[in-house]
Amino acid sequence: MLKVGVIGVGSISHNHIKPYLQNDNVELVALCDLNEQRLQEKGEKYGVTTLYTKHEELLENKDIDAVSICTWNNSHADIAIAALEADKHVLVEKPLSMTVEEALAVEEAAKRTGKTLQVGFVRRHGSNTKILKQFIDQDDLGELYYAKASILRRLGNPGGWFSDISKSGGGPLIDLGVHVIDICWYLMGRPRPVSVSGNTYSKLGNRSHIENLSFYKAADYDPSLNDVEDLANGLIRFENGASLYVDVSFTLQAKQDELSVKLFGDKGGAEIEPELAIVTEKNNTILNVAPQIDNLGFDFTQAFTNEINHFVECCLDNKATIAPVEDGVQVMKMLNAVYESAKTGKEIQL
Ligand SMILES: NC(=O)c1ccc[n+]([C@@H]2O[C@H](COP(=O)([O-])OP(=O)(O)OC[C@H]3O[C@@H](n4cnc5c(N)ncnc54)[C@H](O)[C@@H]3O)[C@@H](O)[C@H]2O)c1
Repeated sequence: MLKVGVIGVGSISHNHIKPYLQNDNVELVALCDLNEQRLQEKGEKYGVTTLYTKHEELLENKDIDAVSICTWNNSHADIAIAALEADKHVLVEKPLSMTVEEALAVEEAAKRTGKTLQVGFVRRHGSNTKILKQFIDQDDLGELYYAKASILRRLGNPGGWFSDISKSGGGPLIDLGVHVIDICWYLMGRPRPVSVSGNTYSKLGNRSHIENLSFYKAADYDPSLNDVEDLANGLIRFENGASLYVDVSFTLQAKQDELSVKLFGDKGGAEIEPELAIVTEKNNTILNVAPQIDNLGFDFTQAFTNEINHFVECCLDNKATIAPVEDGVQVMKMLNAVYESAKTGKEIQL
Protein backbone atom coordinates (compact mmCIF):
# COMPACT_ATOMS: atom_id res chain seq x y z
CA MET A 1 0.00 0.00 0.00
CA LEU A 2 1.37 3.43 -0.97
CA LYS A 3 0.34 6.31 1.28
CA VAL A 4 0.12 9.50 -0.71
CA GLY A 5 -0.17 13.25 -0.09
CA VAL A 6 -1.07 15.84 -2.74
CA ILE A 7 0.51 19.30 -2.52
CA GLY A 8 -1.40 22.01 -4.40
CA VAL A 9 -5.09 21.25 -4.88
CA GLY A 10 -6.01 23.60 -7.74
CA SER A 11 -7.29 22.66 -11.20
CA ILE A 12 -4.94 19.86 -12.25
CA SER A 13 -4.87 18.11 -8.86
CA HIS A 14 -8.20 16.41 -9.62
CA ASN A 15 -6.41 14.43 -12.35
CA HIS A 16 -3.97 13.13 -9.71
CA ILE A 17 -6.42 12.66 -6.84
CA LYS A 18 -9.09 10.74 -8.75
CA PRO A 19 -6.74 8.02 -10.05
CA TYR A 20 -5.15 7.74 -6.58
CA LEU A 21 -8.61 7.18 -5.07
CA GLN A 22 -9.37 4.56 -7.73
CA ASN A 23 -6.08 2.68 -7.23
CA ASP A 24 -6.48 -0.26 -4.79
CA ASN A 25 -2.81 -0.03 -3.82
CA VAL A 26 -3.05 3.59 -2.70
CA GLU A 27 -4.31 5.36 0.37
CA LEU A 28 -4.71 9.12 -0.09
CA VAL A 29 -3.86 10.39 3.39
CA ALA A 30 -3.32 14.15 3.14
CA LEU A 31 -3.78 17.30 1.07
CA CYS A 32 -1.94 20.63 1.21
CA ASP A 33 -2.61 24.08 -0.22
CA LEU A 34 -1.71 27.68 0.63
CA ASN A 35 -5.32 28.60 -0.03
CA GLU A 36 -7.15 27.45 3.10
CA GLN A 37 -10.65 27.75 1.69
CA ARG A 38 -9.78 25.66 -1.37
CA LEU A 39 -8.02 23.15 0.88
CA GLN A 40 -11.13 22.71 3.06
CA GLU A 41 -13.38 22.35 0.01
CA LYS A 42 -11.17 19.72 -1.58
CA GLY A 43 -10.82 17.87 1.73
CA GLU A 44 -14.61 17.57 1.92
CA LYS A 45 -14.96 16.70 -1.74
CA TYR A 46 -12.47 13.81 -1.57
CA GLY A 47 -13.08 12.74 2.03
CA VAL A 48 -9.55 13.60 3.21
CA THR A 49 -9.30 14.97 6.76
CA THR A 50 -5.55 15.49 7.19
CA LEU A 51 -5.05 18.94 5.71
CA TYR A 52 -2.01 21.22 5.76
CA THR A 53 -1.45 24.79 4.61
CA LYS A 54 2.35 24.33 4.64
CA HIS A 55 4.12 21.64 2.63
CA GLU A 56 6.79 21.38 5.34
CA GLU A 57 4.16 20.05 7.76
CA LEU A 58 2.87 17.50 5.29
CA LEU A 59 6.43 16.31 4.67
CA GLU A 60 6.96 15.78 8.42
CA ASN A 61 4.13 13.23 8.39
CA LYS A 62 5.98 9.90 8.55
CA ASP A 63 2.89 8.05 7.32
CA ILE A 64 3.30 9.50 3.85
CA ASP A 65 5.40 7.52 1.35
CA ALA A 66 4.88 9.62 -1.78
CA VAL A 67 3.66 13.04 -2.92
CA SER A 68 2.25 14.65 -6.03
CA ILE A 69 3.38 18.25 -6.46
CA CYS A 70 0.69 20.26 -8.27
CA THR A 71 1.70 23.76 -7.20
CA TRP A 72 2.80 26.78 -9.25
CA ASN A 73 6.04 26.23 -11.14
CA ASN A 74 8.09 28.42 -8.77
CA SER A 75 7.83 25.91 -5.92
CA HIS A 76 8.28 22.62 -7.84
CA ALA A 77 12.03 22.28 -7.26
CA ASP A 78 12.08 23.37 -3.60
CA ILE A 79 9.19 21.10 -2.63
CA ALA A 80 10.58 18.18 -4.67
CA ILE A 81 13.97 18.42 -2.96
CA ALA A 82 12.40 18.76 0.50
CA ALA A 83 10.14 15.77 -0.20
CA LEU A 84 13.02 13.59 -1.40
CA GLU A 85 15.02 14.54 1.69
CA ALA A 86 12.00 13.63 3.83
CA ASP A 87 12.21 10.13 2.28
CA LYS A 88 9.18 10.50 -0.02
CA HIS A 89 8.82 9.44 -3.64
CA VAL A 90 7.85 12.37 -5.85
CA LEU A 91 5.62 12.94 -8.85
CA VAL A 92 6.15 16.56 -9.86
CA GLU A 93 3.98 18.32 -12.43
CA LYS A 94 5.61 19.75 -15.53
CA PRO A 95 7.80 21.76 -15.84
CA LEU A 96 10.26 20.12 -13.41
CA SER A 97 11.41 23.60 -12.34
CA MET A 98 11.83 27.16 -13.60
CA THR A 99 15.59 27.01 -14.28
CA VAL A 100 18.28 24.48 -15.24
CA GLU A 101 20.10 25.08 -11.94
CA GLU A 102 16.99 24.09 -10.00
CA ALA A 103 16.46 21.04 -12.23
CA LEU A 104 20.04 19.89 -11.59
CA ALA A 105 19.52 20.33 -7.84
CA VAL A 106 16.42 18.10 -7.98
CA GLU A 107 18.37 15.52 -9.99
CA GLU A 108 21.16 15.55 -7.41
CA ALA A 109 18.66 15.07 -4.57
CA ALA A 110 16.94 12.20 -6.40
CA LYS A 111 20.27 10.45 -7.01
CA ARG A 112 21.42 11.04 -3.43
CA THR A 113 18.25 9.75 -1.79
CA GLY A 114 17.53 6.96 -4.28
CA LYS A 115 13.81 7.76 -4.21
CA THR A 116 11.61 7.68 -7.33
CA LEU A 117 11.20 11.04 -9.02
CA GLN A 118 8.76 11.10 -11.91
CA VAL A 119 8.14 14.24 -13.99
CA GLY A 120 4.54 14.91 -15.05
CA PHE A 121 5.12 14.42 -18.78
CA VAL A 122 1.56 13.15 -19.11
CA ARG A 123 1.64 12.87 -22.90
CA ARG A 124 4.13 10.01 -22.60
CA HIS A 125 1.30 8.04 -20.98
CA GLY A 126 -1.34 8.66 -23.67
CA SER A 127 -2.65 5.51 -25.32
CA ASN A 128 -1.91 6.92 -28.78
CA THR A 129 1.67 7.70 -27.70
CA LYS A 130 2.15 4.13 -26.51
CA ILE A 131 0.83 2.75 -29.81
CA LEU A 132 3.02 5.04 -31.92
CA LYS A 133 6.03 4.17 -29.77
CA GLN A 134 5.55 0.50 -30.63
CA PHE A 135 5.74 1.34 -34.35
CA ILE A 136 8.82 3.51 -33.76
CA ASP A 137 10.51 0.82 -31.63
CA GLN A 138 9.84 -1.74 -34.41
CA ASP A 139 11.65 0.67 -36.79
CA ASP A 140 8.53 1.18 -38.94
CA LEU A 141 9.32 4.90 -39.33
CA GLY A 142 13.09 4.39 -39.67
CA GLU A 143 15.34 7.20 -38.49
CA LEU A 144 13.29 10.15 -37.17
CA TYR A 145 15.21 13.20 -38.36
CA TYR A 146 12.64 15.99 -38.10
CA ALA A 147 9.73 16.87 -35.83
CA LYS A 148 7.42 19.87 -35.87
CA ALA A 149 4.98 20.86 -33.16
CA SER A 150 2.59 23.76 -32.68
CA ILE A 151 0.16 24.80 -29.98
CA LEU A 152 -1.15 28.13 -31.18
CA ARG A 153 -3.93 29.73 -29.15
CA ARG A 154 -5.59 32.77 -30.72
CA LEU A 155 -6.77 33.80 -27.26
CA GLY A 156 -5.78 31.88 -24.17
CA ASN A 157 -3.53 33.62 -21.69
CA PRO A 158 -4.85 31.97 -18.48
CA GLY A 159 -3.90 35.00 -16.31
CA GLY A 160 -3.23 34.62 -12.57
CA TRP A 161 0.07 32.89 -11.74
CA PHE A 162 0.49 31.66 -15.35
CA SER A 163 1.14 35.21 -16.56
CA ASP A 164 3.32 36.22 -13.57
CA ILE A 165 6.87 35.23 -14.57
CA SER A 166 8.01 35.06 -10.93
CA LYS A 167 5.56 32.18 -10.35
CA SER A 168 5.52 30.51 -13.78
CA GLY A 169 9.03 31.06 -15.16
CA GLY A 170 7.57 32.04 -18.55
CA GLY A 171 4.55 31.95 -20.83
CA PRO A 172 3.38 29.52 -23.51
CA LEU A 173 6.85 28.03 -23.97
CA ILE A 174 7.21 26.75 -20.41
CA ASP A 175 3.49 25.99 -20.06
CA LEU A 176 2.56 24.44 -23.43
CA GLY A 177 5.87 24.07 -25.28
CA VAL A 178 7.16 21.80 -22.50
CA HIS A 179 4.55 19.15 -23.45
CA VAL A 180 5.22 19.08 -27.18
CA ILE A 181 8.99 19.47 -26.97
CA ASP A 182 9.00 16.55 -24.57
CA ILE A 183 6.75 14.27 -26.60
CA CYS A 184 8.71 14.85 -29.82
CA TRP A 185 12.05 14.40 -28.08
CA TYR A 186 10.83 11.23 -26.27
CA LEU A 187 9.50 9.66 -29.48
CA MET A 188 12.69 10.64 -31.37
CA GLY A 189 14.59 8.48 -28.87
CA ARG A 190 15.80 11.27 -26.58
CA PRO A 191 18.82 12.44 -28.64
CA ARG A 192 21.14 14.86 -26.87
CA PRO A 193 20.26 18.50 -27.70
CA VAL A 194 23.35 20.41 -28.91
CA SER A 195 22.11 23.81 -30.03
CA VAL A 196 18.99 25.95 -29.81
CA SER A 197 17.81 29.06 -31.60
CA GLY A 198 14.63 30.77 -30.49
CA ASN A 199 12.50 33.89 -30.50
CA THR A 200 9.92 35.21 -28.10
CA TYR A 201 7.44 38.03 -28.68
CA SER A 202 5.28 40.13 -26.36
CA LYS A 203 3.32 42.05 -28.94
CA LEU A 204 -0.33 41.53 -28.04
CA GLY A 205 -0.42 41.46 -24.25
CA ASN A 206 -3.04 39.17 -22.74
CA ARG A 207 -5.92 40.69 -24.76
CA SER A 208 -8.23 40.53 -21.76
CA HIS A 209 -10.33 43.21 -23.52
CA ILE A 210 -11.55 40.74 -26.17
CA GLU A 211 -15.28 40.06 -26.06
CA ASN A 212 -17.47 37.33 -27.57
CA LEU A 213 -14.79 34.61 -27.51
CA SER A 214 -14.31 32.55 -24.35
CA PHE A 215 -10.97 31.12 -23.28
CA TYR A 216 -9.28 29.05 -20.58
CA LYS A 217 -8.70 30.91 -17.31
CA ALA A 218 -6.64 29.94 -14.23
CA ALA A 219 -8.44 28.99 -11.01
CA ASP A 220 -7.47 32.41 -9.60
CA TYR A 221 -7.94 34.41 -12.84
CA ASP A 222 -6.50 37.89 -12.66
CA PRO A 223 -5.51 39.70 -15.86
CA SER A 224 -3.85 42.67 -14.13
CA LEU A 225 -0.30 41.30 -14.28
CA ASN A 226 1.15 39.88 -17.48
CA ASP A 227 4.91 39.80 -17.94
CA VAL A 228 5.25 36.59 -19.96
CA GLU A 229 5.75 36.20 -23.73
CA ASP A 230 2.70 35.71 -25.92
CA LEU A 231 4.50 33.76 -28.69
CA ALA A 232 7.64 31.65 -28.72
CA ASN A 233 9.35 29.60 -31.39
CA GLY A 234 12.46 27.50 -31.35
CA LEU A 235 14.64 25.28 -33.48
CA ILE A 236 16.49 22.58 -31.56
CA ARG A 237 19.32 20.61 -33.15
CA PHE A 238 20.35 17.23 -31.76
CA GLU A 239 23.67 15.38 -31.64
CA ASN A 240 22.48 12.84 -34.23
CA GLY A 241 21.64 15.63 -36.72
CA ALA A 242 17.88 15.49 -36.13
CA SER A 243 15.97 18.73 -35.52
CA LEU A 244 12.77 19.90 -33.87
CA TYR A 245 10.83 23.06 -34.64
CA VAL A 246 8.22 24.27 -32.18
CA ASP A 247 5.94 27.29 -31.97
CA VAL A 248 3.49 28.06 -29.18
CA SER A 249 1.31 31.01 -28.26
CA PHE A 250 -1.04 32.27 -25.56
CA THR A 251 -2.41 34.71 -28.09
CA LEU A 252 -1.84 35.37 -31.77
CA GLN A 253 -3.68 37.09 -34.64
CA ALA A 254 -4.54 33.72 -36.11
CA LYS A 255 -7.68 32.59 -37.89
CA GLN A 256 -8.03 29.56 -35.65
CA ASP A 257 -6.31 27.62 -32.87
CA GLU A 258 -3.76 25.08 -33.99
CA LEU A 259 -2.56 21.88 -32.32
CA SER A 260 -0.23 19.64 -34.25
CA VAL A 261 2.65 17.29 -33.54
CA LYS A 262 4.35 15.63 -36.52
CA LEU A 263 7.36 13.36 -36.77
CA PHE A 264 9.19 12.52 -39.98
CA GLY A 265 11.43 9.49 -40.53
CA ASP A 266 13.21 7.99 -43.54
CA LYS A 267 10.80 5.03 -43.69
CA GLY A 268 7.60 6.68 -42.54
CA GLY A 269 6.03 9.62 -40.78
CA ALA A 270 3.45 10.13 -38.06
CA GLU A 271 1.10 12.66 -36.55
CA ILE A 272 0.20 12.31 -32.91
CA GLU A 273 -1.81 15.52 -32.56
CA PRO A 274 -4.56 16.23 -33.25
CA GLU A 275 -4.95 12.52 -34.10
CA LEU A 276 -2.71 9.53 -34.52
CA ALA A 277 -1.91 8.90 -38.18
CA ILE A 278 0.93 7.05 -39.82
CA VAL A 279 2.36 7.73 -43.26
CA THR A 280 4.21 5.02 -45.09
CA GLU A 281 5.11 3.73 -48.53
CA LYS A 282 4.31 0.39 -50.17
CA ASN A 283 4.48 -0.87 -53.79
CA ASN A 284 5.66 2.58 -54.90
CA THR A 285 2.57 4.15 -53.37
CA ILE A 286 2.35 6.48 -50.39
CA LEU A 287 -0.23 5.40 -47.81
CA ASN A 288 -1.95 7.30 -45.01
CA VAL A 289 -2.59 4.71 -42.34
CA ALA A 290 -5.43 5.31 -39.90
CA PRO A 291 -5.20 2.93 -36.93
CA GLN A 292 -8.48 1.36 -35.79
CA ILE A 293 -8.27 2.22 -32.10
CA ASP A 294 -10.76 3.52 -29.53
CA ASN A 295 -9.12 6.90 -29.21
CA LEU A 296 -7.09 8.45 -32.01
CA GLY A 297 -6.59 11.68 -30.08
CA PHE A 298 -4.97 12.42 -26.72
CA ASP A 299 -7.22 11.01 -24.00
CA PHE A 300 -6.50 13.44 -21.15
CA THR A 301 -8.25 11.54 -18.34
CA GLN A 302 -6.92 8.12 -19.35
CA ALA A 303 -3.39 9.46 -19.76
CA PHE A 304 -3.43 10.89 -16.22
CA THR A 305 -4.74 7.58 -14.87
CA ASN A 306 -1.94 5.75 -16.69
CA GLU A 307 0.59 8.27 -15.37
CA ILE A 308 -0.54 7.92 -11.74
CA ASN A 309 -0.75 4.12 -11.92
CA HIS A 310 2.74 3.96 -13.44
CA PHE A 311 4.10 6.18 -10.64
CA VAL A 312 2.48 4.00 -7.97
CA GLU A 313 3.89 0.84 -9.56
CA CYS A 314 7.40 2.36 -9.77
CA CYS A 315 7.27 3.35 -6.07
CA LEU A 316 5.89 0.03 -4.81
CA ASP A 317 7.93 -2.29 -7.03
CA ASN A 318 11.07 -0.15 -7.21
CA LYS A 319 10.83 0.03 -11.00
CA ALA A 320 12.36 2.70 -13.25
CA THR A 321 9.91 5.38 -14.35
CA ILE A 322 9.47 6.21 -18.05
CA ALA A 323 9.66 9.94 -17.14
CA PRO A 324 12.80 10.20 -14.97
CA VAL A 325 14.38 13.30 -13.48
CA GLU A 326 17.22 13.39 -16.04
CA ASP A 327 14.63 13.85 -18.80
CA GLY A 328 13.15 16.74 -16.83
CA VAL A 329 16.63 18.26 -16.75
CA GLN A 330 17.15 17.88 -20.52
CA VAL A 331 13.77 19.44 -21.28
CA MET A 332 14.56 22.36 -18.94
CA LYS A 333 17.84 22.85 -20.83
CA MET A 334 15.94 23.08 -24.13
CA LEU A 335 13.29 25.47 -22.75
CA ASN A 336 15.87 27.64 -21.04
CA ALA A 337 18.01 27.79 -24.20
CA VAL A 338 15.03 29.05 -26.27
CA TYR A 339 14.56 31.90 -23.76
CA GLU A 340 18.32 32.55 -23.67
CA SER A 341 18.58 32.62 -27.47
CA ALA A 342 15.58 34.96 -27.71
CA LYS A 343 17.19 37.30 -25.18
CA THR A 344 20.64 37.37 -26.76
CA GLY A 345 19.62 37.04 -30.41
CA LYS A 346 22.15 34.22 -30.79
CA GLU A 347 22.14 30.46 -31.14
CA ILE A 348 22.86 28.74 -27.82
CA GLN A 349 25.27 25.80 -27.66
CA LEU A 350 24.41 23.24 -25.00
N1 LIG B 1 0.14 17.97 -17.06
C1 LIG B 1 -0.74 18.84 -17.51
O1 LIG B 1 -1.35 18.67 -18.57
C2 LIG B 1 -1.00 20.07 -16.68
C3 LIG B 1 -2.16 20.81 -16.88
C4 LIG B 1 -2.37 21.93 -16.09
C5 LIG B 1 -1.42 22.31 -15.15
N2 LIG B 1 -0.29 21.58 -15.00
C6 LIG B 1 0.74 21.98 -14.02
O2 LIG B 1 0.22 21.79 -12.71
C7 LIG B 1 0.65 22.82 -11.84
C8 LIG B 1 -0.58 23.47 -11.22
O3 LIG B 1 -1.41 24.02 -12.24
P1 LIG B 1 -2.97 24.31 -12.00
O4 LIG B 1 -3.53 24.61 -13.34
O5 LIG B 1 -3.55 23.24 -11.17
O6 LIG B 1 -2.87 25.67 -11.17
P2 LIG B 1 -3.92 26.22 -10.08
O7 LIG B 1 -3.58 27.64 -9.90
O8 LIG B 1 -5.31 25.84 -10.47
O9 LIG B 1 -3.56 25.38 -8.76
C9 LIG B 1 -2.34 25.51 -8.10
C10 LIG B 1 -2.62 25.39 -6.60
O10 LIG B 1 -1.35 25.30 -5.93
C11 LIG B 1 -1.45 26.09 -4.73
N3 LIG B 1 -0.08 26.44 -4.34
C12 LIG B 1 0.79 27.23 -4.99
N4 LIG B 1 1.98 27.23 -4.35
C13 LIG B 1 1.87 26.43 -3.28
C14 LIG B 1 2.75 26.01 -2.25
N5 LIG B 1 4.02 26.44 -2.19
N6 LIG B 1 2.29 25.17 -1.31
C15 LIG B 1 1.00 24.71 -1.34
N7 LIG B 1 0.12 25.06 -2.30
C16 LIG B 1 0.54 25.90 -3.26
C17 LIG B 1 -2.33 27.28 -5.10
O11 LIG B 1 -2.90 27.89 -3.98
C18 LIG B 1 -3.37 26.60 -6.03
O12 LIG B 1 -4.49 26.15 -5.29
C19 LIG B 1 1.50 23.76 -12.69
O13 LIG B 1 2.85 23.47 -12.51
C20 LIG B 1 1.10 23.46 -14.12
O14 LIG B 1 2.15 23.67 -15.04
C21 LIG B 1 -0.07 20.47 -15.73
